[in-house]
Amino acid sequence: MTEKLRVAVIGAGRMGADHVDRIQHRINGAEIAAVVDVDLARAEAAVAGVPGAVALTSAEEALNNGDVNAVLVATPGFLHEDILHAALAKGFPILCEKPLTPDAASSLRIVQAEAALGRKLIQVGFMRRFDSEYMALRNIIEERGLGELLMLHHQHRNPDTLPGFTNEMLINDSVVHEFDAIRYFTGEEISSVQVRMGKRTRTAPEGQNDPQHVLIETESSVLADVEIYVNAKFGYEVATQATFEDGIVNIGNDSGPYIRTQGRWGGQVTPGFIERFGAAYDVEIQAWVDAALRGGIGGPSAWDGYATAACCEAGVKAQKTGAKTAVVLVEKPALYAEAPTAMGELRGAASLP
Ligand SMILES: NC(=O)c1ccc[n+]([C@@H]2O[C@H](COP(=O)([O-])OP(=O)(O)OC[C@H]3O[C@@H](n4cnc5c(N)ncnc54)[C@H](O)[C@@H]3O)[C@@H](O)[C@H]2O)c1
Repeated sequence: MTEKLRVAVIGAGRMGADHVDRIQHRINGAEIAAVVDVDLARAEAAVAGVPGAVALTSAEEALNNGDVNAVLVATPGFLHEDILHAALAKGFPILCEKPLTPDAASSLRIVQAEAALGRKLIQVGFMRRFDSEYMALRNIIEERGLGELLMLHHQHRNPDTLPGFTNEMLINDSVVHEFDAIRYFTGEEISSVQVRMGKRTRTAPEGQNDPQHVLIETESSVLADVEIYVNAKFGYEVATQATFEDGIVNIGNDSGPYIRTQGRWGGQVTPGFIERFGAAYDVEIQAWVDAALRGGIGGPSAWDGYATAACCEAGVKAQKTGAKTAVVLVEKPALYAEAPTAMGELRGAASLP
């Protein structure tokens, strides 16, 4: 393979612009060759100061630019499918921001197209797998030093949401990360999802029932629950408490300077996902680049994108019916039989006392 990735970033919004900055300034083995946005001014702003990079308005043009040999997809999810098929046809390594695509049927088409190629080119942007605390908890689960994992309790709290954030988006945009985290922690598929809607916060916009309680079961009957609360006001919190036979583990709680002054004590609440997961994005993109240069992927695969899309579909259905809803997956193609190998290298030391 090539010595350096020459990346076209498609979509120069919040995530795309952040990844351009990351690749240009903090990642080894990759450079920005092109930035694409239908809003040319955004693409131009993102490439300003990136020598040799071009600003374009068409993904197709970027894929056919001879200087490009890798793609990072950061457009809204409903636009991912066409770009992914085109990039697969080129044989380029691809980092696709989550979701792979917005529904299970289109995600399956991507899985089938990649399986037909016979090699993994797509890594999906579930960055929590690269957070040091997530990796430490997974190590503790795998090593069984605290016995078997029995339950997971997830809290996903955002200060507020953008206008138009619907009930379905609570599942598709937010709980999708928890579905992937539960699959990552347990190494199992999710078998069912149920959603309960209770008392609604006064600041939830019209038509949105916030918070919601999502109940999840895995293949071996590990129970997980997610409190999804997107108008929590106080700040941002993504935390998990894991219950084992011989202990309890918490990750994701605020840490940092503990200050006492003027008769008060306290610290800083994390303001948002960029601050919480900034370091994880760096590790994620470096893992992608390193693996792509070796001809593989360094994290969650298209199969993980498909499986979480199926969980989201079950979740949205469960929101409407209140019933426990089965997650049904097709048989896993042989290409995805093994877990991504780079995750082993990235896991680091277990943090058991
Ligand atoms: N991993 C994470 O934690 C995380 C966090 C936020 C968003 N995301 C994902 O990242 C992706 C982008 O989200 P965002 O928050 O940056 O959105 P955004 O709206 O800020 O940016 C999207 C950009 O895509 C551009 N665009 C729209 N249509 C296009 C097209 N046809 N061709 C090229 N550009 C086009 C828009 O003009 C915009 O600049 C989504 O898939 C989202 O789910 C992931």
